[in-house]
Amino acid sequence: MSLSLTYIHKLYQHFNTVLRLSAKFALFPRNLLEISFILSTNLHLHLLYNKSVFKTSTSWEDSLSLIYHSKQWMETKQSTYAFVKFIKPKVMAGKKVLDIGCGTGAALYYIAKTFPNTQFNGIDKSKNLILLANQKLAKLEIANLKFNQGNLFRLKKLKQIDGVVSLQTISWVKELRKPMTQIFKKINPNWICMSGLFYEGDISCKTLVYDHSLEREVYYNTYSLKELNRISNFYGYKLTKVKPFKIDIDISEPKNKDHMSTFTIQIADSSDRLQISGPILLNWYFVMIEKSNNS
Ligand SMILES: C[S@@+](CC[C@H](N)C(=O)[O-])C[C@H]1O[C@@H](n2cnc3c(N)ncnc32)[C@H](O)[C@@H]1O
Repeated sequence: MSLSLTYIHKLYQHFNTVLRLSAKFALFPRNLLEISFILSTNLHLHLLYNKSVFKTSTSWEDSLSLIYHSKQWMETKQSTYAFVKFIKPKVMAGKKVLDIGCGTGAALYYIAKTFPNTQFNGIDKSKNLILLANQKLAKLEIANLKFNQGNLFRLKKLKQIDGVVSLQTISWVKELRKPMTQIFKKINPNWICMSGLFYEGDISCKTLVYDHSLEREVYYNTYSLKELNRISNFYGYKLTKVKPFKIDIDISEPKNKDHMSTFTIQIADSSDRLQISGPILLNWYFVMIEKSNNS
């Protein structure tokens, strides 16, 4: 490891400690938080190929997650481009769309730029990620985007939301029924579009991933599409469109297998690729749920 990298690591560790202490006492020095976010951007390669020196707790604010969020600000994900195509027929000018679990807002920023005449509001349970999202937003010229703190399990009643989007969030919370019920009852949108891990048969798997070296716990749940439809039907909605997300680039397997990091394997005699992260097969889907009486 080069001297400068060691130095950055130490600096980053220091910021991480400050962040954790600040979080404990609900104090967030804005600049430190932002510097930590920027540092994480520079550290991601190192982190993926070397044993991590970070010790972090559960949440999407830990060092590996900050890297995940900051990478999206540098490069829009293939899945975000595909998600935009999927929602395009539903997104109407003059309407409001809520993004649940927006993180630091990179994907929603791309979506809001694509549909400038629609109003987008991103919520995330993490106060700190929303702080970072708003710091980014303050430097960007975009009129149709806002970020606020909000919890998918305790949503506030909102009126006049036409659509809900949620990217890479539903499979990373502990269950399906409660959050979906919250969306149906509290938001009551005309349509909901989510990306997540799903299975066509009537089987759901709850998977809690424990990353030992980072002391990080994360759900990677795969939900039955039939169960999703049943829950939707109960609240007067139905699953109207289901599309597997087929990635069209190769991602090589990381040398260091100690962290969750997506890679692909080409399926023999097919143009399709399996997407794998750590020990988990990722059954990526985009799903559209709409009010039954709309059609
Ligand atoms: C995998 S990240 C996805 C972030 C973003 N949607 C994206 O595509 O980059 C999952 C996000 O869900 C948020 N989240 C987890 N539980 C939540 C909850 N109960 N309510 C709202 N957001 C939640 C996390 O803080 C995190 O930012």
